[in-house]
Amino acid sequence: MAVIGTHRPTKALIDEGAIAHNVRGEVQRLDDHTELFAVIKADAYGHGLLRVARVAAAAGARGFCVAILDEALALRAAGFTQPILVLGVVSPEYAALAATNHVAVPLVDADWLTAAQPYLDAQHPLAVHVALDTGMGRIGFREVTTLQRVLATVEQTAGIQVNGVFTHFATADDPDTSYFQQQVVRFQELMQAFRVRPRYVHVSNTATSLWHAACNGNMVRFGVGIYGLNPSGRAIDTTPYPLQPAMSVVSALVQCKQIHAGDAISYGATYRAAGDEWIGTVPMGYADGWPRRMQGFHVLVDGQECPIVGRVCMDQFMVRLPRAYAAGTKVTLVGRDGEAVITLQDVADYAGTIHYEIACGIGARVPRITVNAVN
Ligand SMILES: Cc1ncc(COP(=O)(O)O)c(C=O)c1O
Repeated sequence: MAVIGTHRPTKALIDEGAIAHNVRGEVQRLDDHTELFAVIKADAYGHGLLRVARVAAAAGARGFCVAILDEALALRAAGFTQPILVLGVVSPEYAALAATNHVAVPLVDADWLTAAQPYLDAQHPLAVHVALDTGMGRIGFREVTTLQRVLATVEQTAGIQVNGVFTHFATADDPDTSYFQQQVVRFQELMQAFRVRPRYVHVSNTATSLWHAACNGNMVRFGVGIYGLNPSGRAIDTTPYPLQPAMSVVSALVQCKQIHAGDAISYGATYRAAGDEWIGTVPMGYADGWPRRMQGFHVLVDGQECPIVGRVCMDQFMVRLPRAYAAGTKVTLVGRDGEAVITLQDVADYAGTIHYEIACGIGARVPRITVNAVN
């Protein structure tokens, strides 16, 4: 059981109004035949599975995509009745469990179908979305002939029904579209294997739906855009409508002290004070998803950028303050304080990663607090 730190000032603030705005904005861009499925895997990229499911559905999402079967079952247990697709490979032995819960799963190759056969039941047919590997190299069929053979077997099998077909692009967030176009061509070639077009044909993650909407098919798997994050990072700086970031991370100083020239801070004593300095301690560390390599970055204290000094510890880190501040003074790690802003992208840039990893890495120990609630 993950223990949640409700008695500590460190919190992730989740702006439900922003989530609703982002989903609504994309739904309005789609044509009448195209449905938005909200990608809410990994605890909705750290924003909270059930909360985002509720807000996204109210804002126009028609279904959900998750990564693993357990996430789908959690949605069903919470009473969500919308279509759900698991995007990752589900072990064939769970085919019956998926089918009885009306959860669709990917059909990725001939071996998967063979292994699933003993678990298929004509009374509760399993819905599958056929995965096409057009260049991601991750899951799905690569050869038209194999695909034709498997589709023919599926047609003869009462316990399984093709409900969709999909692929995933590797470079939809890249200004260079050459590899993207190659994948589109490959997708069209593989689609020749289908005698009947499945109910759902889908290829679009957020980047594809934002910047290559002509490819969309009749469903989009809209993920990171829900959370107000630009899928390209900074590579493509305009989005068709303004995305509103949904997550902020805040904490408070738990101690403030003065140190003197030569005094050291944190493990390894890597930081030494140049003179008299005020140092504040912030109760968040790498166990909470604030990477150890953030030493040298900054947070906002009272709206001012204050550098992180010394190594980030598992549960705490220290900042240099311009003056003494009382314990309890607000610290913003991600978000806005007055005129100053730190984005998840800023954090990711400094940490040498992408904002996806920072958002879904914010630890289970950090409580998610609703702001701007949508009922
Ligand atoms: C198959 C698939 N579709 C859609 C998405 C959503 O991507 P994004 O969050 O970039 O919209 C993902 C996320 O990794 C995915 O793996």
